Amino acid sequence: MTTSPDRHDPHSLNGQSIAVHAGNSNDFGGAIRTPIVMANSYLLPDDPTTVNWSGTDVALYTRNSGVNQLGLQVKLAALEGAEDAVALASGVAALHAVFFATLKTGDHAIVSDIGYVALRRLLEDLLPRRYGVQATFVDTSDVQAVAAAIRPNTRLIHTEVIANPTTRVADIAALAGIAHEAGALLSVDSTFTPPGVFRPLEHGADYVVHSMTKYINGHGDAMGGAVLGSHALIQPIRSDAMVDVGGVISPFNAWLIMRGAVTLPLRLRQHVTTAQRIAEFLAAHPAVARVDYPGLDSHPQHAVAERQFEHGAGGMIAFAVIGGPDDQNAFVARLKLITSAVSLGHDESLIVQVSRDEPHTVNFPPLYQDSGLLRLSVGLEDADDLIADLAQALNGIALAE
Ligand SMILES: Cc1ncc(COP(=O)(O)O)c(C=O)c1O
Repeated sequence: MTTSPDRHDPHSLNGQSIAVHAGNSNDFGGAIRTPIVMANSYLLPDDPTTVNWSGTDVALYTRNSGVNQLGLQVKLAALEGAEDAVALASGVAALHAVFFATLKTGDHAIVSDIGYVALRRLLEDLLPRRYGVQATFVDTSDVQAVAAAIRPNTRLIHTEVIANPTTRVADIAALAGIAHEAGALLSVDSTFTPPGVFRPLEHGADYVVHSMTKYINGHGDAMGGAVLGSHALIQPIRSDAMVDVGGVISPFNAWLIMRGAVTLPLRLRQHVTTAQRIAEFLAAHPAVARVDYPGLDSHPQHAVAERQFEHGAGGMIAFAVIGGPDDQNAFVARLKLITSAVSLGHDESLIVQVSRDEPHTVNFPPLYQDSGLLRLSVGLEDADDLIADLAQALNGIALAE
């Protein structure tokens, strides 16, 4: 496949140029964008005895390889500065792929005690109960706590860079140091901090995981996940989690995400600028009880965020209005432009009240445990319109005299 990187070495370009060109092929009748190839099977050679039926670099069957998946992987690897990338069906498939590749019965993992809820279910319940994996949940923003949790059988440390949903920030270089000293690997879910904001491999991470459903696709219309790292670490994931376990991405979703990723750096600049303005607006509003955004001076890990991130602090804000869970719900119901729905990183701003029944909420700052936590994914609408919507909904909150 002739791809644009053959004409332009992606590593010599800057982010937005990589996003436009990397992974695109001109090989299909001269079309300047790779078309969607939905065929799930490819012509075999006259003598198929030499075909590697489990291969990942052969035009054989879509679960082994495919034009759209390959192009997307080239673009992702170039954006993230990774040697290799594997695109999978969802962010959770990507998380599972890392744990499946690194942990066996009797192995121990240190995992952030705040993070996407499926992570908790995988490592607190499914993998320990079914496969005898051990997991310790710790505050991964506390480097001493992580070091103290190391055991002789620790194989993996896993954290989100900015934790979903509280926005707690982990120091990736410090965690990489602890992991490597213990002979373990560091896996980092960078869904809240895509390339353009942060590239964890440059700070010592071994695996980077993305839910591409979020910022990388960016338009709320496709699901996908990715794992990135060295070829030596990614190739086993491609063979096991993709070919043998079957977590392959569909060609159509790979094509949609490839198209979405073209504008990733541009979109991120807008997400970040608007999120900073909204966080400052919320922090100054008397009806807001607490705001967490790593770009605010008041954020507990603001210094780490400033040192670590290339550009801004992402597009996700955690906050609570004055009152209890019913007041959070009533506030959300008054919003007219911002949509109440799960997911994040879309063009459209999304807000969700995080369920207080989830086990990891006990690790949230106490105010959020009492009042509930609102997670706002700042979209690409005009910042003034978003602030006006929040302001009119905040006006409905009765303030103490
Ligand atoms: C940080 C993070 N990681 C992983 C996932 C899972 O991704 P997906 O829904 O694409 O499986 C999510 C989903 O919200 C997430 O927020």
